[in-house]
Amino acid sequence: MGVTHVLAWGFLGLAGRITRTAWQDKPATVTRLRWRDRFRSFFQGRARTRALYRRRLLDLNPVTWLAARDRLKPVYPWIFLGIMAVVLASGVATAQNSGVSSGYPVPKGDLTPPQQTGAGLYKRYCVGCHGVKGDGNGENAPYIDPKPRDFTLAQFKCRSTPTGTLPLDSDLIHTLQRGVRGSNMPSWLPLSPENWDDLVAYIKTFSSRWKTEKPGDPIPIPTEPEVTADRVKAGQQLFQRLEVQDLRGEHG
Ligand code: HEC
Repeated sequence: MGVTHVLAWGFLGLAGRITRTAWQDKPATVTRLRWRDRFRSFFQGRARTRALYRRRLLDLNPVTWLAARDRLKPVYPWIFLGIMAVVLASGVATAQNSGVSSGYPVPKGDLTPPQQTGAGLYKRYCVGCHGVKGDGNGENAPYIDPKPRDFTLAQFKCRSTPTGTLPLDSDLIHTLQRGVRGSNMPSWLPLSPENWDDLVAYIKTFSSRWKTEKPGDPIPIPTEPEVTADRVKAGQQLFQRLEVQDLRGEHG
């Protein structure tokens, strides 16, 4: 016999006992009356107030009297409403601080509004890999290779700036748009440009280097050489030589 059985039989026995006597009008003992009075004055107000209230209801009509004579003290509904308001307000505040729901986050701590929104987006999309502290130790990190970037070092692969210097914001945004090929870093193209800006703003809070250093000067990329007849000819010769070598390699 299981626990449920025992409980069921217990309840049944109890119900049997109670229903046998429940309908009987028991003589009210002094203690009973005192407790009833305490209960009523706690929840429904003092005897005088209750009597006045009932008279008013009866004057109105008997139906209101029947319906409302046991009403709670007016403070109770207000306390209930107060609690609901506090719960609602704290819920709204949390949602706003997470930066996702409203889009108009309340600045908190020393984060600027874009960083706040970025923090919300980061929690939603990036923590799984890059980790709460931005150190690349998210819960998925053990399973992926190459490892997610550790933002606390502020070292990035995809830069237009010299080695050892910080990247430009636009470099990081390009990374978000493209993702990193051959790694688990996805492309975040579906997010909006504002989202990219906010995410970059937030990523930069993980390292103090961003406060003390400036991004490096972009390495200039020379313009493409002009197309001339000589160059086309040289290219053609090179192409043919390579192709011939390739064929020889294959057959000989
Ligand atoms: C599924 C795991 C994963 C998620 C989710 C992820 N990343 Fe990454 N991320 C990586 C990995 C892995 C690398 C390292 C790639 C490498 O070293 O080739 C990386 C690298 C980066 C880099 C550095 C690129 C560079 O130039 O060195 C940035 C910036 C970055 N992630 C930003 C983000 C942002 C912002 C998000 C959230 C919107 C995000 N990542 C979400 C896995 C992830």
